[in-house]
Order: sequence, then C-alpha cells, then structure tokens
Amino acid sequence: MKCTSNDDIIERADQILKKKFHITTFGCQMNEHDSETIAGMLLERGYEQAKERKDANIVIFNTCSVRENADKRFFGTLGQLKKKKMEEGENFTVCVCGCMMQQQHIVDTIKSKYPWVDIIFGTHNIHQLPELLDNLYNEKHKQLSVWHDGGEIVEGLPSKRLFKHKAFVNIMYGCNNFCTYCIVPYTRGRERSRKPEDIIREIKDLAADGVKEVTLLGQNVNSYRGAGDNGQDVCDFADLIHLINEIDGIDRIRFMTSHPKDLSDKLINTFSECEKLCHYFHLPVQAGSDSVLKRMNRRYTREDYLELVKKLRAVDPKMSISTDIIVGFPGETEEDFEETLSLCEEVRYDSAFTFLYSVRTGTPAAEYEDQIPENTKHERFNKLVETVNRISAEKNAEYVGRIEKVLVDGPSKTDSAIYSGRTETFKLVNFPGTPEMTGRIIDVMITSSNTFSLEGEAVSCDE
Ligand code: SAH
Ligand code: SF4
Ligand code: F3S
Repeated sequence: MKCTSNDDIIERADQILKKKFHITTFGCQMNEHDSETIAGMLLERGYEQAKERKDANIVIFNTCSVRENADKRFFGTLGQLKKKKMEEGENFTVCVCGCMMQQQHIVDTIKSKYPWVDIIFGTHNIHQLPELLDNLYNEKHKQLSVWHDGGEIVEGLPSKRLFKHKAFVNIMYGCNNFCTYCIVPYTRGRERSRKPEDIIREIKDLAADGVKEVTLLGQNVNSYRGAGDNGQDVCDFADLIHLINEIDGIDRIRFMTSHPKDLSDKLINTFSECEKLCHYFHLPVQAGSDSVLKRMNRRYTREDYLELVKKLRAVDPKMSISTDIIVGFPGETEEDFEETLSLCEEVRYDSAFTFLYSVRTGTPAAEYEDQIPENTKHERFNKLVETVNRISAEKNAEYVGRIEKVLVDGPSKTDSAIYSGRTETFKLVNFPGTPEMTGRIIDVMITSSNTFSLEGEAVSCDE
C-alpha cells in the first residue's frame, strides 16, 4: 500500500483550498490584455495562477471570433476538458469569455453541446468574473452574464503583466467602422475612449513599477477622442502621445491599430516631435484594389494609402511599416489580386500579416454571392506570402552591420543562453545574453538576418 505523508495531505488540502486558475487566450492584443486583467483580479482575490492548464482547477478560455479557424480551435480545446469535468465535478471550474461569447449562436451552442461549462461572460463585463465565481460556489448553479453594450468604462482594474518592463494600455474600446468582412464591431461594441487623465495616471503608475515601453491599444487608435470631466473633446490621439512622451521612466511608445482613413498629418508629425515614439507603424491595407477596398467599406483608395506611406517615410525615414492583408474577399478578381501584389512591391512592407478571407455570420460580406473558391484563395495566399516574405528578408538584410537599440525581453524558451528583444522598428533580435540584460535597452550589433528575425551581438548597455 502506498503511504501518504503529511506533506502530501497538506499539499492536497492546499490545492483544494487555493483555487488555481489558468487562462488560454486566443486572438489579438485586446484579448491578451483582457487576460492580464482577469489574472490581476483573481490574484488580488487570493487565487493562484497555474503554469499549465493541467495543474489548474479553474480553466478560463478567452476566445476570438475574427476568423473561422479561431472558432474551431476553441471548440476543439474546450471539448478536451469534458472528461476531467465529468470526473471532478464541482472541484473543476470551466469559464469561457471573449469575443465569441458576444454572439448569441455561440452561447446557444455552448449551452446545448457543452452544458458542463460553468461560467459564460462577455467582453464588456470581464470585471464581473470574481463575482460570478463567488455566485457559482455559493449558489451552486451555472452563471451566464453577457452584456450587449459597453456601458461605462470600468477604471482601476488590476493587471498581471506578462513582462515587468512593458505593458499594454487600452486607450479606447470598440470599433465604429464596420468593414464588411469584420465581426469585431459586433463583439466589442461602439467606440468609447478613456479619459486622458485616467490613461496618464495608469502609465505613470506603470513607469513607477518599472515599465519602459507602453503599447497603446484600440481597434482604431486614430479616432481616439478623450473627453475632459466637462464631457467636451479635449484630446485627440496625437495630443495623447505628446502627453505620454512627457512621462519620466517611459522610454518607448507604440500603438495598435491605425485605420488609414483616420491617419491625420498631425499624427504623422508626432513621429518627428515625440522622441519616445518608436519608428514603427502598423497600417492595415487589407487589399490593393480600389473596387475591393470599396466593397470592404474601407473608405480610402490605393492612392490615398500610398500617399500616407510616403508622408510617414518623409517624416521618419527610419520607420518600418507592417500591414494586414486579406486574400479571397468575395468578388476579388485575378486583376484585383495582382493589385495587392503590386502594392506590396511598391510599399515594401517590413512585415505583413496575411489572412484568407473567412466568412463571418452576421457581417455584410457573408451575404455576398460571389464567394471565392477555397483553392483559388489558397493559390493567391501562397503567392502573396512568397512576395511579402521575400521583401521582409530583403528589408531585414539591410540591418546587417548596424548597431540597434534593443529592449531585451529575456532568454529564449529553447536556449537559455540566447536572449531576444525588439528594435525600435519592432524587429525581433536574438543574441547571446545574460540575465541582467532583461528589461534593459542595450546596443546590439546586427550580424545576420532571416525572414522574421535578426541575429546579433550585444555591444553595450545604456545603464
Ligand atoms: N482593428 C484592427 C484589427 C482588426 S482584426 C484593424 O482594423 O486593423 C485584425 C485583422 O484580421 C484585420 O486587419 C483583418 O486583416 C483580419 N480580418 C478581420 N476579419 C477577417 C475575416 N473575416 N477574414 C479574414 N481576415 C479578417
Ligand atoms: Fe474590423 Fe475594420 Fe473595425 Fe478593424 S476597423 S476592427 S477591420 S471593422
Ligand atoms: Fe479576435 Fe476579438 Fe481581437 S474577435 S481579433 S479577440 S477583438
């Protein structure tokens, strides 16, 4: 017979008393940051964070609905938990949240096919999770709470950052643009901007806690409108960057994402006025043909877009530019697609996120009749990837021999002697490093380049 030591018994009791949670995050930085907030709230309440899902007794899935494969991956992973839930019952809690839960047909599917899920909540009420858990444990019945509009912005929620030296900061929520392919306006609601003073206060606190780099988040940061206490517009996005540029301790400012139709000259000029703003711009183009852009409801032309790129490079010649591109949008002809390829050649992106168009129920484009066959989509996708990767590799090769300022994130997962970090232009750099480099900005000589990263050697630290 196996003996159970006192230590074993204490550890088991601890496990039961101290609920350990694990969060799996799908989707974009919005979701990643929401997960940091969820972790912050639960840690504040005395829950512990498990490193791996198998060690947790509260499992949380933060979902994304932007493309169909995100949906599929979520349901696949959720299904794997059924056995454990059946065996452990009340001692194992399954929570699902995020963008998918803002869609009624998804909530209905979970209720009918995964009835053992304990808690369902949405993107607008993540702050309610601790209360929903309390209700679940006290009242012993499932909790479903999804808000269908944003309501007041909830300030002051804690956050458990992934990195000590860098942080995401939401400056606005939601999206008003209704690109015809996109589900986000339906899952994240209408645009709401935080007050500038709340954002500044948060960033000052982050700087005091060791944060050097902030990434300002919003679905379209260019339409940020921060109102003062009197409710009047007092601050646009460029003004906000100027305010953040003044905060001691913050060395780098980044932001995501910008809609080209709202990119003002005033914002472009901040790149020459604010020295902390990194030389990097993510400017999703989506397509290179005017007729596709029109049917996507993007509200700019190819020429407008190219003009913006020209202005950005004129103000900041070092700037690296990345984009998002969708191939196979309904009605996209071979000529339309060729225009996307030629636009990539013209802009010469440092990197591009490429997506196969995915039908999203409830969006206008889902109803368009001229859907593109899967094999055509894939052929175009492969051609596009070849083009953007070739250009990325050529752009990266230009870095060899340069000395770049790199904010060091830490050692690589596979080799503890190799460290990685990002240049101001958002290039990933790998180099032999030491633990004290983590969180510091160091000079790295770039010795070679790949398609998606650079290799280098540290030459000095700035502190
Ligand atoms: N608000 C941001 C990001 C939105 S989602 C922006 O406008 O840039 C990120 C990217 O996913 C989009 O830029 C788009 O390229 C892609 N995307 C959105 N919906 C899609 C769909 N239905 N099919 C394929 N890609 C999609
Ligand atoms: Fe989606 Fe367009 Fe809004 Fe971006 S701007 S979130 S692509 S609707
Ligand atoms: Fe996905 Fe929601 Fe972000 S749909 S891309 S997680 S806003």
